Amino acid sequence: MSQVAVPYVALGLRARRIKHELLAAIERVVDGGMYILGPEVQEFERRFAAYCGTRYAVGVADGTSALILVLRSLGIGPGDEVITAPNSFIASASSAALLGATPRFVDVRREDMNLNSDLLEAAITPRTKAIVPVHLTGHPADMEPILKVAERHRLPVIEDAAQSVGTLYHGRRTGGMGYAGCFSLHPLKNLHALGDAGVITTGDERLYQWLLKARSHGLRNRDEVEFWSTNSRLDTLQAAVLCVMLDHLDEWIKARREIAAQFSAALRDVVGVPAEAPGSLHTYQTYMIQAERRPALLEHLKQRGVDAKVHYPVPIPMQEAARGLGHRRGEFPATDWLAERIVSLPIYAEMTREQRTTVIDGVRSFYRA
Ligand SMILES: Cc1ncc(COP(=O)(O)O)c(C=O)c1O
Repeated sequence: MSQVAVPYVALGLRARRIKHELLAAIERVVDGGMYILGPEVQEFERRFAAYCGTRYAVGVADGTSALILVLRSLGIGPGDEVITAPNSFIASASSAALLGATPRFVDVRREDMNLNSDLLEAAITPRTKAIVPVHLTGHPADMEPILKVAERHRLPVIEDAAQSVGTLYHGRRTGGMGYAGCFSLHPLKNLHALGDAGVITTGDERLYQWLLKARSHGLRNRDEVEFWSTNSRLDTLQAAVLCVMLDHLDEWIKARREIAAQFSAALRDVVGVPAEAPGSLHTYQTYMIQAERRPALLEHLKQRGVDAKVHYPVPIPMQEAARGLGHRRGEFPATDWLAERIVSLPIYAEMTREQRTTVIDGVRSFYRA
């Protein structure tokens, strides 16, 4: 049996493989001298919008700021409610809470771990101001029914596409289906900077024009400030890096899909493997299994050098930060069920054949024993 160590990520290895391209891009920024909103930012925005099939893209500091800015553009604040998924990264909900609004959670489906559209309408109140479905792990949320409910109630849909760059839903890329798409370009994402970064996609001209000002202090021009805002600009150096990364994105996604197919074929008789709904293209930002006896499985994998993680063991409504919302365990049964079983296995394009075998053997040997 193979005993090759498998770290959860191999970011340094990836960067080393394309180091000459990254350093050349960085050198161009260094020599160009335009360090704030330099030409690389616009180049990345143009290319990213084309990639997502949206009219516009606006680079920002990170994925959390992307969500906050888009919610702010709608004037969301105290007294308002924003609907999202309870099993996401905290920013899906904290973005609303930080503006003084109340996050409202709708349980997910076990199969794709995304917002259960059958439960959505019942969660809408006169205070609801936006719906924020999350495309968790790189699998698209079931957007068609979500968009229909939103349209019926005249509510904007903001896609939390932080984990889903490149993901397809019936031929459409995530980020292009609602009012706006918010992407994180954090190093753990399929398209990533060498640090924090984010981007917003939209087809809405007014939102686009507002974002260009809102990400830079509300400045209309060098001297005039149209409204109070903050600094949330995408760094020029990171934009240059992202242009290089974008050249490789499709090959990385292809490799992840191949590894995921291999994992799923080898593991489906011992654990729940990720579903891919008809019409969806899953990009496997995370390869998440649903496993019984998780604590023992994690220990077994650790003994064999496989670094697995749990995203996320504590659902957002159960976080201490959310105590004021008054939620209790059992309100979101699918989320609770998943929180006890999900395991993220290592997956990246640079994984060797031996490492893949180590992961597969690690999981299989646990359940065979
Ligand atoms: C679903 C989701 N939303 C929002 C974010 C926030 O992005 P960032 O870390 O770039 O602020 C993340 C990042 O982990 C995420 O996974």
